[in-house]
Amino acid sequence: MTVAARTQVAIVGAGPAGLLLGQLLHRQGIESVILEARSRDYCEARIRAGVLEQGMREVLIEAGVGERLEQEGLIHGGIYLRFDGENHHIPMSELTGGRCVTVYGQTEVVKDLIEARLDSGAPLHFECASVALHGIETDAPRVSYELDGVAHELHADVITGCDGFHGVCRPSIPDDVLTTWGRSYPFAWLGILADVAPSTDELIYAWHPRGFALHSMRSLELSRLYVQVATDAEIAEWPDERIWSELDARLQCDGWELQHGPIREKSITPMRSFVAAPMRYGSLFLAGDAAHIVPPTGAKGLNLAGADVTLLAEALVDRFRSGGVTGLEEYSDSCLRRVWRAQHFSWWMTSMLHIDPTDDAYGMQLQRSQLAYVTSSTAAATSLAENYVGLPFERAPAAHG
Ligand code: APR
Ligand code: PHB
Repeated sequence: MTVAARTQVAIVGAGPAGLLLGQLLHRQGIESVILEARSRDYCEARIRAGVLEQGMREVLIEAGVGERLEQEGLIHGGIYLRFDGENHHIPMSELTGGRCVTVYGQTEVVKDLIEARLDSGAPLHFECASVALHGIETDAPRVSYELDGVAHELHADVITGCDGFHGVCRPSIPDDVLTTWGRSYPFAWLGILADVAPSTDELIYAWHPRGFALHSMRSLELSRLYVQVATDAEIAEWPDERIWSELDARLQCDGWELQHGPIREKSITPMRSFVAAPMRYGSLFLAGDAAHIVPPTGAKGLNLAGADVTLLAEALVDRFRSGGVTGLEEYSDSCLRRVWRAQHFSWWMTSMLHIDPTDDAYGMQLQRSQLAYVTSSTAAATSLAENYVGLPFERAPAAHG
């Protein structure tokens, strides 16, 4: 027996993209069903990035999920670039007419969105198995899945693929329709969460001949730090003492000391750039990591997912309220303009700050020269700053709304 149901928008994936889309649609009276492969606990425990652009912060607040973010998020108006034992402040806010970022974990964003969804009573199903798309080239698509051993079929007007890089939605598009671009980097990040007050007021991005390091934070009591490691590195090779000693060496700066503390969590993240286009095929729309990946150095992944679904929600509202299709027709091109800017910025930050084991001493001299330029030229620092704080989130033209 198959249980059949109908909705306006079937959302595959309950990461930040799917959950925020569901919330934005719900606020506008558009029905959706969210189907997630993993359990709620798994989704709420995943430690991911933690920097929200101003546009993302505003969208979360407008969507009614900003309460904890406004209380607990740390507003940052700058970052440090550290190299050759010296710390250089990039006053991003000053350079961008007052724009800031908020340090607030993606994990917390996901928890807030899940809570809002469940409170609203709108459907969100965890632990869906065998999710598959059908009829996406038609205007009567459907999603089949199993829940608690029962087969389900969800009929929708539109399917949104918010199921991340390894999901099923992008591979449902015929190969000859999609063009993909990508790059994998010859290094990875080992990230830790440590129960210790951050040793800095702003994030520190450090270039060092031993490899990149980043000092970030989650609160005034919890530090988040990363070290560049080899692509085949394993957690077992990185006992706590080795991590702290690498962080000490790579973040070294005269008159400054890194505070150590108990490590709560360790994980290794590969570094990859990837874009698939177009982000629409028939009645399937891709958003977030399902369509594009950036290395975390520019802190753009979550923000791109947020920008995609902000546009998609507006286009869908227009489609369901007044039959307007321009927003949906322009969706892919509008997203991809921002996506490619973030691709370039993320690649550029990554290339400037990491030691590439396949490169030579000449490459390192180029990096040092670029860092000296970015930290001494207002023009160069402004370029970094405006990319880091992010462009304002694009909204569909009022005529469509
Ligand atoms: N069916 C249903 N859900 C699926 C399936 C599937 N076949 N495959 C994957 N998923 C779920 C995953 O379990 C995950 O919860 O889709 C969700 C995708 O979430 P994310 O990977 O977080 O992607 P997205 O919402 O686009 O958010 C992008 O997350 O990975 C970071 O750096 C990235 O910060 C960026 C943000
Ligand atoms: C984080 O806090 O996890 C973080 C911060 C900045 C980045 C990447 C990750 O560029």
